[in-house]
Amino acid sequence: MVKKIGILTSGGDAPGMNAAIVGAIRTGYKLGKEMYVVYQGYKGLVENNIVKVDMNFGENDIYHGGTCIKSARLPEFKDPAVRQIAIDNLKKEGIEALIVIGGDGSYMGARKLTESGINCVGLPGTIDNDISSTDVTIGFDTALNNICDAIDKISETMSSHNRCVVIQVMGNRCPDLTLYAGIACNADFILTVDRPLNEDELMESLIEKKKNGQDHVLILVAEKLLDTSELVKRINNRTGWDTREDVLGYIQRGGTPSAMERFNAVRMGSYAVELLDQGIGGVCVGIVDNKLTHFDILESLKLPRNKHEDLYKTFDLIK
Ligand code: ADP
Ligand code: F6P
Repeated sequence: MVKKIGILTSGGDAPGMNAAIVGAIRTGYKLGKEMYVVYQGYKGLVENNIVKVDMNFGENDIYHGGTCIKSARLPEFKDPAVRQIAIDNLKKEGIEALIVIGGDGSYMGARKLTESGINCVGLPGTIDNDISSTDVTIGFDTALNNICDAIDKISETMSSHNRCVVIQVMGNRCPDLTLYAGIACNADFILTVDRPLNEDELMESLIEKKKNGQDHVLILVAEKLLDTSELVKRINNRTGWDTREDVLGYIQRGGTPSAMERFNAVRMGSYAVELLDQGIGGVCVGIVDNKLTHFDILESLKLPRNKHEDLYKTFDLIK
């Protein structure tokens, strides 16, 4: 039976990662395990930055965003020789199992470590919500709240000047943050990979809104979809709206994790340890229909992205 379990966070940090760490450590000690943290993700694994922690580790971090054990990206981890250094470091310490909190890239690393004898469980830690084997990823709810808070503030100043604003929302090609925030903030236009820009339609609609005396206009654009600065110039030239750009960026990713975020993350962290205790690895944890569940990592990565056709159907996204 596994005795020593390590935990790392990898890829973009996400609020709630600390709660997942705390959940795993508490359950680990309850089940008689020794718990270790790896600082800086796979980089720390290769550099042997592995530290044994007691059962109170992280208790002052659970209400903070970011990750108290740091995160990193290490593209070289795709190289089997580099992974072997990590495996050797774990074996030297007697650590046979690992919890990897990150996105789909981190899941691939976890899968490969499992194939080499280190049982891994992945937890979906990313604000983007781009992992299909869970209804929500750790970080999504808080990032969504951060976005809505920012947009509400931007709306007040746009309204005071009767302006139009193009807001770029972070999310790495996944439409979810843009779509959910657009619905929650009553945006006029929501542009994502699933509903890309129809420029003539947009311009006509904006001219119409100006004619009808609309107070201000909110256009949300998913990150990496199009050049928002260029779009702003064209709107200014064609519609009569005084238009500004706002790129939300990292403001979305930091900040106090919401209560629901922490609740879900603690449960997922705890469940990951229970799986490893049963000798289960090569899987990732999800919450589906409010129940904890797990999937084979490769199966999870093959699942199609949820396109939320129901949401697009319910809301006429061009008002
Ligand atoms: P995320 O986990 O948020 O998707 P990345 O895609 O940047 O973020 O992946 C995080 C890290 O996972 C990478 O820097 C790399 O160390 C590791 N990784 C990504 N893809 C692979 C892979 N195919 N094989 C092994 N490790 C990988
Ligand atoms: O995956 C999380 C995320 O914040 C994406 O939304 C964004 O595209 C990317 O990470 C930004 O990465 P970096 O921290 O390297 O700028």
